[in-house]
Amino acid sequence: MTATVGKEQVLGALSRVQEPELHQDLVTLDMIRDLEIQGGKVSFTIMLTTPACPLRGQIEKEARQAVAAVAGVESVAIKWDSNVPNDGRMRGLMNMPIRNAVAVGSGKGGVGKSTVAVNIAVSLAQSGARVGLLDADIYGPNIPTMMGVDRLPPPNGKKLVPALAYGVKMISMGLLVKPGQPLIWRGPMLNSAIRQFLGEVEWGELDYLIVDLPPGTGDAALSLAQALPLSGAIIVTLPQLVSLEDASRGLQMFRTLEVPILGVIENMSYLDLPDGSRMDIFGSGGGEQLAAATETPFLGKIPIDPAVREGGDSGKPIVIAWPESAAAQALRQIAESLAAKISVAALGGKNELPINIVD
Ligand SMILES: Nc1ncnc2c1ncn2[C@@H]1O[C@H](COP(=O)(O)OP(=O)(O)OP(=O)(O)O)[C@@H](O)[C@H]1O
Ligand SMILES: [Mg+2]
Repeated sequence: MTATVGKEQVLGALSRVQEPELHQDLVTLDMIRDLEIQGGKVSFTIMLTTPACPLRGQIEKEARQAVAAVAGVESVAIKWDSNVPNDGRMRGLMNMPIRNAVAVGSGKGGVGKSTVAVNIAVSLAQSGARVGLLDADIYGPNIPTMMGVDRLPPPNGKKLVPALAYGVKMISMGLLVKPGQPLIWRGPMLNSAIRQFLGEVEWGELDYLIVDLPPGTGDAALSLAQALPLSGAIIVTLPQLVSLEDASRGLQMFRTLEVPILGVIENMSYLDLPDGSRMDIFGSGGGEQLAAATETPFLGKIPIDPAVREGGDSGKPIVIAWPESAAAQALRQIAESLAAKISVAALGGKNELPINIVD
């Protein structure tokens, strides 16, 4: 004889399962959808706050165990869906259907900002999120080469249509000028270019817009922070002290602009040698040190790997070209923790920062 299982019992069991990062249970967070019970067969959908959820495995295990322990349950089928929370300050702004915008910066040039931006964007898209990539480096745009794109689709009326590569919608000044043409801009032009990239590009609905900033602590970040409320910035640094000083300046600049810092990433952390040993070319531990000193999360380390550079040069990001490599794994994990941090910030009411809207 099959006992009848009630919805209340199943929801009761699931209300004892915590979302590990949001520190509330799955029922309170309204994450359980489409609960159906047929005899002893239970099925439901878990609605995540990001398709790139790093804790999906843990949530699944605990939810399954809790429901399986209910008397009469014979099987548990779990489906997944996601709804990325909207950064509260984005709502209604410029009619922009962008849920979260994240800037990738550093005080320093050549530390891997563009590489990180590209690979994070592609990783998030691969997990199923709707992702845009805005190249705010209008002096030295590298994103088109790194994404293997050399032209934009024809515009739609007055709006630019972003290029699409690896599931990511992207825009770059490099796609609007002829190759090799010098890019000389005066300050106000930079400001208006960034505004055009936000307001006059047909982005469609985006869960995440990743913005690659030029080196330095300057104008682009300011223009960007004034043009839309950023969910936050991530800071890329190398492990050595001199790079840290620059990264620290970059970080303080975002704080001055009242942009939350989502975390620090240490790039080119170490080199794995063929004999299995590890070489710290640029020293070690600097990123963690910077994160600790500035009380910001440390998002992870990315090793030096010639394949990362080859991927950049050939337009095939490492997370696509060699997904199993240590560098690609590190970049994917960083993308996942970033997505989790954005969800926590969006749902945790930590968005009461002043809105910087100019116009
Ligand atoms: N982990 C890595 N291993 C090997 N090469 C890397 C790694 N990260 C970045 N690179 C290479 O280092 C160079 C600089 O990286 P990238 O262009 O991403 O830096 P950036 O900070 O955006 O530079 P800029 O300040 O000029 O915009 C590129 O050729 C890139 O492919
Ligand atoms: Mg760059």
